[in-house]
Amino acid sequence: MNALKIGLIPGDGIGPEITAAVQRILEANGFCPEWVPLEAGQPAIDKGLPAMPEETLNAVRELGIALKGPTATPVGKGHTSANVALRKALDLFANVRPTRSIPGAKGHFQDTRIDLIIVRENTEDLYAGIEFQPHKDIAQAIKVITRPGCQRLFKYAFEMVRAQKRKRLTAVHKANIMKLTDGMFLEEFYKAAVEYPDITADDIIVDNCCMQLVTRPEQFDVIVTENLYGDIVSDLCAGLVGGLGLAAGANIGENCAVFEAVHGSAPDIAGKGLANPTALLFSALMMLRHLGENVTADHIGGAVLRVCAEGKVLTGDMGGTASTEEYASEVIRVCLEKSG
Ligand code: NAI
Repeated sequence: MNALKIGLIPGDGIGPEITAAVQRILEANGFCPEWVPLEAGQPAIDKGLPAMPEETLNAVRELGIALKGPTATPVGKGHTSANVALRKALDLFANVRPTRSIPGAKGHFQDTRIDLIIVRENTEDLYAGIEFQPHKDIAQAIKVITRPGCQRLFKYAFEMVRAQKRKRLTAVHKANIMKLTDGMFLEEFYKAAVEYPDITADDIIVDNCCMQLVTRPEQFDVIVTENLYGDIVSDLCAGLVGGLGLAAGANIGENCAVFEAVHGSAPDIAGKGLANPTALLFSALMMLRHLGENVTADHIGGAVLRVCAEGKVLTGDMGGTASTEEYASEVIRVCLEKSG
């Protein structure tokens, strides 16, 4: 039988450090696919290629699966986002971002049980990248919401709620102000809900959602939202449970899936061996579950929870002094100990 092949995009900033740590943890647990190294971000730019080279896109398209480290995008100038290019080119329309309390993780909600998932639309909205300047003092951006885009997103979200035996799906929007775009999003949400009478479907305006999340986050089950709101709300949720170093994500399309952490390339700590690889590791565990490797995913996930709860070997963002490598070694040690 041919070995399973997975695209590996280390990216830039802390990307190479955390992808190496995650690979080491997976392989120590017997998950040894053929990793296909692919370039994106600064290493590609340094070779005169676009931030998301066509070759990388084609390889992921062919493999159907990839694990991706972060890639930086300059603010207000320079090249366009490699991430947006990847999600659009491969039509990775659903971005799934779980937020779960982690024992030992410091945060304002460490005594509250948070277990919610954000499903963010990943290809439309203001991220369609349609910007122009009709006058030197006026800059405009076009927000794009399409009915088919809404329909496939809601189908995916409702099916996910059902498959995970969850109970409630909440649409997050601003349809009181953006009556056509967010109005269509909300209309399609309730049309889709009719097919899922076993799931409670409700909605909330994005500003109220943020207020509710920072006061009573435990009330949410699954949130489905547009691209921009989803981007912002998922960082907010990461902050509720101990920060960006723990927040995982998956970009899902009809034929492809790319797994990556919520966080960016963290240039402030890049190259220093300080980054927390947990967010990318949790993203990789989502990938393992996607591949049906649930036992291995649960085993590694359990070891991470134990390392966090013990609190002896943690990276700086979690209040510890361990390096990326030391933390990865501790996760591996606990995995092996659990295996007996
Ligand atoms: P960021 O997520 O890179 O960093 C925000 C803060 O969180 C920093 O203080 C950083 O040190 C910390 N942090 C992030 N990940 C961490 C980890 N694994 N361990 C420990 N600390 C961690 O966000 P920022 O600074 O706004 O963006 C930096 C670059 O990343 C930008 O160019 C941005 O465009 C890009 N970016 C890329 C993403 C991707 O590739 N999917 C997603 C978000 C941002």
